[in-house]
Amino acid sequence: MVTAQAIEKSQTQNVPKTGPCVMIIFGAAGDLTKRKLFPALLNLSANNMLSDQFAILGIARADKNTDQFRQELSGEIKEFATSEIDQKSWDWFLNRTFYKRGNFDEKTTYDNLGAELAKLDKDFGTEANYLFYLATAPEYFSKIVDSLKEANLLDESDGHWRRVVLEKPFGHDLKSAEDLNKDLLKNIGEDQIFRIDHYLGKETVQNIMVFRFANGFFEPLWNNHYIDHVQITVSESVGVEMRGNYYDHTGALRDMVSNHLLQLVALAAMEPPTSFTANAVRDEKAKVLNAVQPIQPEQVAKVAVRGQYGKGAVRGKQMNAYRDEPRIDKESNTDTFVALKIMIDNWRWAGVPFYLRTGKAMGDRRSEIAIQFKQAPYAMFRDTPVDTLSKNFLVLHIQPEERISLEFEAKIPGPFVRMTPVSMHFDYKDFFGAQPSTGYETLIYDCILGDATLFNRADNVEAGWRVVEPILETWAKEKEANFPNYAAGSMGPDAADRLIQNDGRAWRVIEK
Ligand code: BG6
Repeated sequence: MVTAQAIEKSQTQNVPKTGPCVMIIFGAAGDLTKRKLFPALLNLSANNMLSDQFAILGIARADKNTDQFRQELSGEIKEFATSEIDQKSWDWFLNRTFYKRGNFDEKTTYDNLGAELAKLDKDFGTEANYLFYLATAPEYFSKIVDSLKEANLLDESDGHWRRVVLEKPFGHDLKSAEDLNKDLLKNIGEDQIFRIDHYLGKETVQNIMVFRFANGFFEPLWNNHYIDHVQITVSESVGVEMRGNYYDHTGALRDMVSNHLLQLVALAAMEPPTSFTANAVRDEKAKVLNAVQPIQPEQVAKVAVRGQYGKGAVRGKQMNAYRDEPRIDKESNTDTFVALKIMIDNWRWAGVPFYLRTGKAMGDRRSEIAIQFKQAPYAMFRDTPVDTLSKNFLVLHIQPEERISLEFEAKIPGPFVRMTPVSMHFDYKDFFGAQPSTGYETLIYDCILGDATLFNRADNVEAGWRVVEPILETWAKEKEANFPNYAAGSMGPDAADRLIQNDGRAWRVIEK
């Protein structure tokens, strides 16, 4: 039998180390660096996946020097590391981590950067390969890339590589995303741009493709002949917390649906790519997102529901109404919940609705893709005490449980035909053990290797915006009179239930 240990051993033996490079983090004093990037880098180094020819240069406006930066990181890592810190690995890191104060708008920042990087190349053998990680506010993306270009830091003609990693938000709507792509592509090639959607870094999300395409039994059923509908839920129990400045101008449709949820749709619905190479996968994702039926303005009220939380209690803990959270307009019209029905106009999916819902301050934190298969004909059970059959769901649980489950009917032992729904499941933790991870390990590792499979190409990002654009436009025109329309701790507004009930279906009950 193949055991988890045997798989792990064979896999770590084959995992190549990254090549030489400097990772330059713009906005290094921010949250992402301490919460995700350093803990992820530490996990990579603990698994022996980073080259010795590696260095990190943090750049931010905060006035501090390398020693102070190292000291701060050493404190923060204790809070954010996902496994026990191996002091030797950590020291290895700190000795190759540097900090430079710099204003992203000033030319001198980039003039000095060239000299700084040349020195790191000399000291650490990083061979002039640079990964520029923009952990900054989005308004700096174009400016930084323009300036790097001007300072001749993006040129790959000497045999080294230069890459730029961008965090979301990638635009505010379709037009701004197109403008940003145009701006970037003036200065660098698409193959140098790595647009992060952190959902694609989650193991369970990456596994969707393996589950579908490396196994023979579900793919033949994965179409409108056998599937009734698909439900994707990403519910969060947290509210907006301290991110009011950003969130009140964004809302759930932009923040979650245009990117994360539509990426889940793309992975669940795409055709098999011809290989796992970046462009083959991204071509298929683009095709399926482009096949989403455009929503006409007059349909919006029928297929999309927006919500905003009022006060309530999440798992017994009182929560303020959204409008009473810090940095939120007292009359805010921002959506903190969205439910949506989309249709995909292609041969595989015609007639199969995809229902999506996501929201903040909901009763539970849970993300899943649930595929409901069509009902078996009742006829043979007509004379038994059973007159309804429960739904056959295949559920890909993304978080917090990492699991795949199959829900079906089984006969209750005994002389009569009595049935009950049962579930069969595969749990990642049971088989592979708990894997300490921030979700950024694979993403960082892949950028350094130059594998863009898990990153969004310009057309993928724009396709996501295209789907939500008519809803954004319609909602922007009218203030929702009904807000707040769901209590914190519930599963969203009643209208979201009606959206799916109108089609004779229901949301799965997913609260614990
Ligand atoms: C981010 C959103 O992209 O994803 C946040 O900006 C959201 O608002 C977060 O909370 C959810 O990510 P996860 O990994 O906790 O599901």
